[in-house]
Amino acid sequence: MIAAVERAMRDGHNGYAPSVGILAAREAVSTECIDRGMPMHPDRVVITSGTSEGIELALTALAGPGDDVLIPVPTYPLYTAVLAKIGARAVFYRTDAARGWQPDIDHVRSLISRVTRALVVIDPNNPTGASYSPEARRALVELADRHNVPLLADEVYADLAFDGPVGALAALNPDAPVITFSSLSKAYLAPGWRMGWLAVAQTDRLDDVLAGIKKLADGRLCSTGPMEYALVAALTGDRSHQQAFRDALRERAALTTERLNAIDGFSCVAPTAAFYAMPKVALPPGKTDEDYVLSLLRATGVLCVYGSGFGTAPHDGFFRIVFLAAPAELSDIYASMGDFTRDYLAGRGR
Ligand SMILES: Cc1ncc(COP(=O)(O)O)c(C=O)c1O
Repeated sequence: MIAAVERAMRDGHNGYAPSVGILAAREAVSTECIDRGMPMHPDRVVITSGTSEGIELALTALAGPGDDVLIPVPTYPLYTAVLAKIGARAVFYRTDAARGWQPDIDHVRSLISRVTRALVVIDPNNPTGASYSPEARRALVELADRHNVPLLADEVYADLAFDGPVGALAALNPDAPVITFSSLSKAYLAPGWRMGWLAVAQTDRLDDVLAGIKKLADGRLCSTGPMEYALVAALTGDRSHQQAFRDALRERAALTTERLNAIDGFSCVAPTAAFYAMPKVALPPGKTDEDYVLSLLRATGVLCVYGSGFGTAPHDGFFRIVFLAAPAELSDIYASMGDFTRDYLAGRGR
């Protein structure tokens, strides 16, 4: 990827790229979509500054003041931030720790209304580390299809499910109104390169949305030109690093689940993808997730993110762990979390 970017720069590709991205990158993305079961023409692909920009373009094209967008809770905060910026309302549907953080389909269905402009699905999920069951995935696509609500499929972790890459949600029904998003940030370990894409399903129901997205893309000129050559190199090149990455993540996830569940007062659903776990600590009355996380940070130097930052209730005691550190370091971290938590739950401040 580095060689491809250097070559592009030395070959003089330093001007503005087309606002939708260079053809070679869009072709690489369309082939990637087809390989994942989603029919795709390069004209329906837009190259973006990461998944984040793709999401912002799509939400801005779809929704405005007075509109609703369904997003999961716990959520990834980019969604609430973009919706606040464009004046649309974030309507939260439950994903449930008691059911392995699977989405509550009945709850999603009950929230769809006349003003619902999009249904956001993050599978595999940040912050929970869940990948959704085939039944849940089918039900979500079916809801989008039946109610004609565009499904925004955040598939940035699709290659990091421990059992191997997850197919595109859109593959379950090629006629359903689905827009898929991904990037080089996670499975190609280059988040700072800000290189991603969106691809709009080949249904005429989404033609206006695609036109709106392209208009917005014109307004910001283009994503970083030389980096688009890295995207081509990544998607058409050797991916063997991903198997090693998935294996390392699986080992760290298992260590995380085992060690956290051994701490009194903790419960942790086993992650099945990505590098996140969302454990719960049984908080004493009156304590919040924020108080627990900040006290842990002050006492041990270990930083987690409290669940209420992702929209869970402060007294529920959820918090998110990123388990990318090496296993030996994780082991030390979980030991000090156990020591700290014993004192914290016994009311002995440190
Ligand atoms: C669910 C989810 N979507 C999107 C992003 C942003 O990714 P990108 O770097 O491609 O903008 C992240 C990054 O953590 C994420 O977890």
